[in-house]
Amino acid sequence: MSAPRKLFVKTYGCQMNVYDSERMAGALGQSGYEQTDDMGEADMILLNTCHIREKAAEKVYSELGRLRPLKEANPDLKIGVAGCVAQAEGEEIMRRQPLVDLVVGPQAYHRLPDMEARARQGEKALDTDFPEEDKFDHLPAPRGPKARRAPAAFLTVQEGCDKFCAFCVVPYTRGAEVSRPAARLMAEARDLVERGVREITLLGQNVNAYHGAGDGGDWTLARLVRELAKVDGLERIRYTTSHPNDMSDDLIAAHGEIDKLMPYLHLPVQSGSDAVLKGMNRRHTAEQYLRLIERIRAARPDIAMSGDFIVGFPGESEANFADTLALCEEVRYASAFSFKYSPRPGTPAAGRDFVDDATASDRLARLQSLLTRHQREFQEAQVGRRMSVLVEKPGREAGQLVGKSPWLHAVHLDAPADSIGQVVDVEIVASNPNSLAARRIGA
Ligand code: SAH
Ligand code: SF4
Ligand code: F3S
Repeated sequence: MSAPRKLFVKTYGCQMNVYDSERMAGALGQSGYEQTDDMGEADMILLNTCHIREKAAEKVYSELGRLRPLKEANPDLKIGVAGCVAQAEGEEIMRRQPLVDLVVGPQAYHRLPDMEARARQGEKALDTDFPEEDKFDHLPAPRGPKARRAPAAFLTVQEGCDKFCAFCVVPYTRGAEVSRPAARLMAEARDLVERGVREITLLGQNVNAYHGAGDGGDWTLARLVRELAKVDGLERIRYTTSHPNDMSDDLIAAHGEIDKLMPYLHLPVQSGSDAVLKGMNRRHTAEQYLRLIERIRAARPDIAMSGDFIVGFPGESEANFADTLALCEEVRYASAFSFKYSPRPGTPAAGRDFVDDATASDRLARLQSLLTRHQREFQEAQVGRRMSVLVEKPGREAGQLVGKSPWLHAVHLDAPADSIGQVVDVEIVASNPNSLAARRIGA
């Protein structure tokens, strides 16, 4: 048998791309590829790309430029572009970068082995279809040493989006909302747990709109979470990303009832101004969002909120922006991402007059300083508290391990290496800039 070919995958963008990269590696495993962390020895380099903001998309072209010397040194090296830039700009990529052999959109990953074979024959392979069949039915789970590593894993349950927020490319790059059948997800989750996974994060662009075929009709996300909570060995469940309008009563109730469902919710609002929310086509007001959070906190008082914000959206006035700051003061996010509006080709807001760059940058800085302060205060409030930590990997110093708190803090602790993969009880002893320090209790 010939030596396995080597695959190097570089992943940009969201967690769904991380999951997809593993599945693509699984598919190419069937074509005889093994994953490598060394780009220099790769027979195939796959860039799994993100189109969400202009900067994210431009990274792809600069990365491709950097690959030229590798391709010149090894003419057998195949270069592929996957993900949302592939979907949005597939033909342009082929035109702008002759060194690209293969372009594959997110809904065509199950066709990768066939495309790879064509690329080996010297053909250019491009597939940005939205086929009828479910790609995950044809994508084997990743196997081998790399696949067994981490005790926390992602599981895509829903993909695509029908919301059409005025700024967003996702409905175009990922396509319409599709939920995977519940039985398959239960089987995949059990398989992950058998491989040592203790925490599963359910993924979807609109994960709380999940409505997959299951016993007795479609299951909601709440039902899926309740069934997953019964799987022995699975200790923690999370889900992301949710839209405020799909937060059902049942899902809110689940937060109060299911211990395995972690007390942390990423619920982007984007803006605190009703006028801006309307322009964004978010279909709810700031007040409705705040009342929703009240109900979630009533069900699970220790829940931490996280969010996403866009500043400088077309039409955002200083008063509108002040409403965003006020909303943040009220919610006090444990963590949040904020971005300057980036006009994306083909989206409804792209042609509107936008806020000048200096104003947008100034607002972003002000918002980020507020969000960072809240994040730090939340983290510092953990000192002295007892909590559970999922131990994930070795830390930088000898004997030190790193894990995750229920609220997604990185936690450093001294513990034997065989605690990796276990949920242990700790007391938090200090708060550092990007992590907490803890000591084990009851061990
Ligand atoms: N519902 C999605 C959101 C994906 S995009 C999910 O599953 O995560 C992640 C975040 O990027 C959005 O919440 C938004 O804050 C930001 N974003 C999206 N389009 C953007 C744009 N054109 N400019 C700036 N930020 C944007
Ligand atoms: Fe984009 Fe809005 Fe859909 Fe989220 S809900 S993926 S922001 S269109
Ligand atoms: Fe980016 Fe596509 Fe995810 S645009 S954020 S990789 S869905």
